[in-house]
Amino acid sequence: MKAKTVFSCSSCGYQSAKWLGKCPDCANWNSMVEENYSAAPAESAAVRSSVPAYKDGPVLLKEVVGKKDNRFSCGIAEMDRVLGGGIVAGSVILIGGDPGIGKSTISLQISCALAASGKTVLYVSAEESVEQTKMRSERIKDGSDPGNLYIVNQTDLSEVLEYIKKIKPQVVVVDSIQVIWDPALGSCAGSVGQVRECAGVLTQLAKTTGTAVFIIGHVTKEGTLAGPRVLEHIVDTVLYFEGDRFLSHRILRAVKNRFGSTNEIGVFQMCGAGLEQVRNPSEVFLSQRPKDVAGSVVVPVLEGTRPLLVEIQALVAKANFGYASRRAEGFDYNRLNLLIAVLEKRIGLHLGAEDIFVNVAGGIKIEDPAADLAVAVAAASAFRGQSVPSDCVVLGEVGLAGEIRSVAQLPSRLGEAQNLGFKRCVLPANNKDSWGREKIKMEMIPVSTLKEALDILLNSSTVISR
Ligand code: TYD
Ligand code: MG
Repeated sequence: MKAKTVFSCSSCGYQSAKWLGKCPDCANWNSMVEENYSAAPAESAAVRSSVPAYKDGPVLLKEVVGKKDNRFSCGIAEMDRVLGGGIVAGSVILIGGDPGIGKSTISLQISCALAASGKTVLYVSAEESVEQTKMRSERIKDGSDPGNLYIVNQTDLSEVLEYIKKIKPQVVVVDSIQVIWDPALGSCAGSVGQVRECAGVLTQLAKTTGTAVFIIGHVTKEGTLAGPRVLEHIVDTVLYFEGDRFLSHRILRAVKNRFGSTNEIGVFQMCGAGLEQVRNPSEVFLSQRPKDVAGSVVVPVLEGTRPLLVEIQALVAKANFGYASRRAEGFDYNRLNLLIAVLEKRIGLHLGAEDIFVNVAGGIKIEDPAADLAVAVAAASAFRGQSVPSDCVVLGEVGLAGEIRSVAQLPSRLGEAQNLGFKRCVLPANNKDSWGREKIKMEMIPVSTLKEALDILLNSSTVISR
């Protein structure tokens, strides 16, 4: 075989003999990257260390005897929750995130906890030396005597497979997939082909031997996992580490999970002894909330199955340079623009010449449409300089006609708000019948339009009565 150069799409893996500006398959621009394959093909890692292939032929579904997920706890409750109740044997879990966010720390913590509970773990520290990993383990809690935890500094996939054959671990951690390579492929480590192939071999290993595999992946500047998007399709679970590197909170979010619900989150705090679990995130997110300040509104959002109280902050200031600027941190920018348009058109607020900034305090990103009303109320409150009562939570989806639409899973949201001492709740009128009346002691204020909500919340900031 001659040495050859191909161009692979970093987004979908499409290959072409020549460079293209736009991928014909996934239509992404500038996603083709050059890959050089060496002249002499060697045996691939999978062949050399003979990862068993899938052998079974087709069978009738009705004859298949189902077996329960063989789950085990990873020793960190927040992580177990994100995984849908623990690690499933034979599953492949991808953890992505910005550099320095804590991927290596959490994976080492999981490895230590698993080893301490009697499991055999192989931690492939491909980026850092064994000594560096040792130093890290000394920093983290419970990391000093981790039982059967093997560490190796290796980047060659076939060698890694050999170790797995020898040690027979129940859990393997590969940190990170971008530096693992299979020399047989010829291209350099981190290239689209390498990442895809190595992940494929590891997945096959997991499925045939029942070993759970954690794969750590870097993210690109755009925030997607480096390497082909197909990586996300290959694995069973994709977890992303979110949060500002300069703040101590870290949110681990499941964006895909074949064994649990997606959007489930775990909240951690980076401290001197590694990542600590945050048991009551709502309390933490609201801890620095200013009381009776215009533009601050609390909403109970739902992240996966977990209700979470977050503070939405808005600032509205006269635009100085003609063109008004809008910024959204932790909230969808286009959604913010839509809500501003609704405030202008349906309420008559003149926001055209105002700069508007919206921030979700605590570095969390929310996608729950139930936060719409809180964002709109925060912007109107900031614009008018009138505060929303600090013991009141606000939730509801805002429609284009300015109507308030119902939200899902109301009882758990209300329960969380009540637990944290909130006394009143402005909620969609359509939801009137879906809260557990007997358990909820908060005053319920149903509204059907944005105008109604603003009239109630902003006109009298001390007394609400209906
Ligand atoms: P790391 O896990 O190396 O990040 P990643 O693998 O995602 O690149 O995290 C490193 C950061 O975490 C680094 O800035 C130091 C900080 N850190 C702590 O604050 N406390 C600790 O106990 C540890 C181990 C790391
Ligand atoms: Mg790392």
